[in-house]
Amino acid sequence: MIESRINELIQIINQASYEYYVLDNPTITDQEYDDYYKELLSLEEKYPEFKREDSPTNRVGGEVIDKFEKVTHEKPMLSFDDIFNEEEIIAFDERIRKTIPNPTYTVEPKMDGLSGSLIYKKGILVRAATRGDGITGEDITTNVKTIKSVPLHLKQDIDIEVRGEIYMSKVSFEKANMEREKKGEPLFANPRNAAAGSIRQLDSKITASRNLDFMAYFIPNPEEYGIKTQSESLEFLRKLGFVTNHKLNTVAHTVGEIIATIDDFAYQRSDLPYEIDGVVLKVNSLADEEKLGFTSRVPRWGIAYKFPAVEVLTTLREIKFTVGRTGKITPNAIFSPVHVAGSLVSKATLHNEDYCNEKDVRLGDIISIRKAGDVIPEVVEVKLERRKEDTVPFHMITDCPICDTTLIKKDAHHYCPNDHCPARHIESLIHFVSRDAMYIDGFGERIIEDFYNMGYLKSFTDFYFLKNHKEELMELEGFGSKSINNLLESIENSKKNSLDRLLFAIGIRYVGKKTAKILAEYYQTMEAFLKTTYEELVAIDNIGEMIAQSIIDYIQDEKNLKQIEELKELGLNMDYQGTKTIVNDAFQNKTFVLTGTLEHMTRDEASLEIEKRGGKVTGSVTSKTNVVLVGKDPGSKYEKAKTLGITVWDERDFLEKL
Ligand code: IVH
Repeated sequence: MIESRINELIQIINQASYEYYVLDNPTITDQEYDDYYKELLSLEEKYPEFKREDSPTNRVGGEVIDKFEKVTHEKPMLSFDDIFNEEEIIAFDERIRKTIPNPTYTVEPKMDGLSGSLIYKKGILVRAATRGDGITGEDITTNVKTIKSVPLHLKQDIDIEVRGEIYMSKVSFEKANMEREKKGEPLFANPRNAAAGSIRQLDSKITASRNLDFMAYFIPNPEEYGIKTQSESLEFLRKLGFVTNHKLNTVAHTVGEIIATIDDFAYQRSDLPYEIDGVVLKVNSLADEEKLGFTSRVPRWGIAYKFPAVEVLTTLREIKFTVGRTGKITPNAIFSPVHVAGSLVSKATLHNEDYCNEKDVRLGDIISIRKAGDVIPEVVEVKLERRKEDTVPFHMITDCPICDTTLIKKDAHHYCPNDHCPARHIESLIHFVSRDAMYIDGFGERIIEDFYNMGYLKSFTDFYFLKNHKEELMELEGFGSKSINNLLESIENSKKNSLDRLLFAIGIRYVGKKTAKILAEYYQTMEAFLKTTYEELVAIDNIGEMIAQSIIDYIQDEKNLKQIEELKELGLNMDYQGTKTIVNDAFQNKTFVLTGTLEHMTRDEASLEIEKRGGKVTGSVTSKTNVVLVGKDPGSKYEKAKTLGITVWDERDFLEKL
């Protein structure tokens, strides 16, 4: 009774998704969909024994894995050679005609995402993998299940591998970046990076929140289904329940037809809801494909034509100078906002004085902006023929735009030499808390700026005094007691960080993440590091003269030494911990499963703490699970743990054991 209702609901919801995503023709309202969904969810919660692997409720994610397993592709996952112009299309066609006198091609938009392989057994999605190096990829099944346009159950119960592009729509990309901006996190450069970053999340809830999509375009073993052409493959995929690009995919017989189709795609490009970066040409007949075969690297029967990088014209409004944490001054071109390759841009770096002079940029100039692939926007050139009269040549500033100190020039760059320049300070504070440095979660750039301006944060040590201002901070707009508590807790936790993080965080010029690790490994303690000499430093592999000199300058400065001493007194760890784990019997050699939302940390952080103590985190509850850690609103894993009699900890238990 219950089971058959669950089955029925799954059938209704899957059909509705198919009509929505594939046929683009919804037959039920959003409200009806939500009602069915909620009914299914509540039945599955009450009767987890009837929950199905292919249930659409799995799409919300929730499973957290500890790492991506490697998987070997049954057939290598190749890609095509790239070409960039009409001559190369003609040459490709001529080459094909040597073997196939009258070829037919499919012309398909080249989706700009990352390719994925999906394996179905008896119609059920059992594994999804990234391309990796083409031979082995990574198992991303849990995350792919959250993609709504990926069918969890096909319309035929067959075994099949399907390949296609995992991508992020333009709308989801804008949304993801808006959220990142709010949190002060670095923005994704483009939808492809955003898709790649989202699919490689250990916590599938994050992937689910990013709203990825999937477009199917390839069946590695078409002959097994009686398919004779690529067009039939695409048709077959659509019938199975996949989204294909059926409105755009075209068949062409001549170079003329191919080019006309490319022009058509290029014309439509900016109106498409997703990014395309070119066109994929494939010989349509599979028998012909077989005759053409492969080179040592790529199939001979297809090619990827890439659109030229887009250049857009705009007007240069302002040259704004920013001050980095080392005091480096960067001129930035601020121009009227323009859409370039999928995002709205209004700013591009002009690097330094020489660059500005070379390009001869002047206020009011018409400039062309380019953004090719994942490259950050750049000013290509000034349209000199459109320059107005009375423009003024670029002049480098002589004083710091923030503190007015006279700038000094070193190599190609100008620097503000004032150690107390507020701009430098804010940048260095932002760097201190960043992910690869002290990783103090909860601090966006804005919060740091606000705290700085309100006088709470002036130096690194001030982070550790914030707890004394708890009451006042709670009064601030946008802060509740929960977020302040979380923030203070991450600050406290950061005291335990290993020396390499601290060495990176304190912002010694030229000491990046890697160098900090080398130094920490070599010296093991801050004390030993502070006693180093120039000669000793240059003798270390990968430490050059410039880095060595910068370190010596740093440790000879009394102010810096005083700051480190204060951090030590505040209880910051000053030793290198390397990969050493903390001994804790409650975790050592135990297998954990996490479910529900934790209040004090993310699941990634909780997993890290468990691993540091010698435990393992897996995705599903089995008889081998030792502990299930249950947060708020746990899923069916909690029920399963109870049924199997497995130890259950709530968050408080967990924190105590930590
Ligand atoms: S077919 C043997 N079709 O572009 C190659 N690829 O080199 C099978 N791509 O890495 C791929 N849209 O990720 C194919 N309609 C499409 C595509 C497409 C995008 C990507 C794919 C591959 C590269 C082509």
